[in-house]
Amino acid sequence: MRIIAVGGAGTIGKAVVAALSDQHEVVVAGRRSEAVPVDIRSTDSVRAMYQQVGTFDALVSTAGDAHFGPFDTMTEAQLARGIESKLLGQIRLVLLGRPLISDGGSFTLVSGYLLNDPIPLGTSFAVANGGIEGFVRAAALNLDRGIRINAVSPGMAEDSREEFADFNPGRLPVPMDTITSAFVRSAEGWRTGEIIRAW
Ligand SMILES: NC(=O)c1ccc[n+]([C@@H]2O[C@H](COP(=O)([O-])OP(=O)(O)OC[C@H]3O[C@@H](n4cnc5c(N)ncnc54)[C@H](OP(=O)(O)O)[C@@H]3O)[C@@H](O)[C@H]2O)c1
Repeated sequence: MRIIAVGGAGTIGKAVVAALSDQHEVVVAGRRSEAVPVDIRSTDSVRAMYQQVGTFDALVSTAGDAHFGPFDTMTEAQLARGIESKLLGQIRLVLLGRPLISDGGSFTLVSGYLLNDPIPLGTSFAVANGGIEGFVRAAALNLDRGIRINAVSPGMAEDSREEFADFNPGRLPVPMDTITSAFVRSAEGWRTGEIIRAW
């Protein structure tokens, strides 16, 4: 398959690209990508990405960010960062990509454990993750031409342990291949409307 990996240069994205590259042609897109630059917060930018890439059979997204900080001082604008980037940005990939993806193609978005096991600084992530999972379940009922959609919900990634362990007391890091195999299962498998938990 020809697979677009949006956010494929990030911590999880790099591992996902490595896991898919043996069997598939993977096109890496991202904010800082020289080959296929895209900012998922912008409709024009996502349209330009699809125009540049051309035909594709699957898209895996490990892109998007959100505000990480104290609830007491969190502003609406800070909360909106996760909505505009991680939530709406990934939804935009589907809305603009659905007429272009091959018959039987698949979209795989990323949510995360902070929805189900929230931590005090992670409200913006919890909100974005909840939106992604709701979107995936509903979109699966509506996509035609055999197009599938799933979300992978990673736990705290092994490669992010140093960055996040202090904020997640007692949480075991998830091996990278547990996370990457969830993306592979979504892209190569048959299921749709599923939230694949990698934790
Ligand atoms: N790491 C974890 O333990 C963990 C656990 C659960 C869920 N998650 C979720 O998994 C996703 C990836 O996490 P990560 O740790 O791999 O993060 P990361 O290392 O920061 O990578 C994020 C990737 O997304 C891209 N990106 C961010 N904003 C973008 C935008 N507006 N347009 C296009 N690309 C954008 C970045 O591209 P540039 O580098 O070019 O800016 C980067 O390649 C995030 O949504 C995160 O919430 C992560």
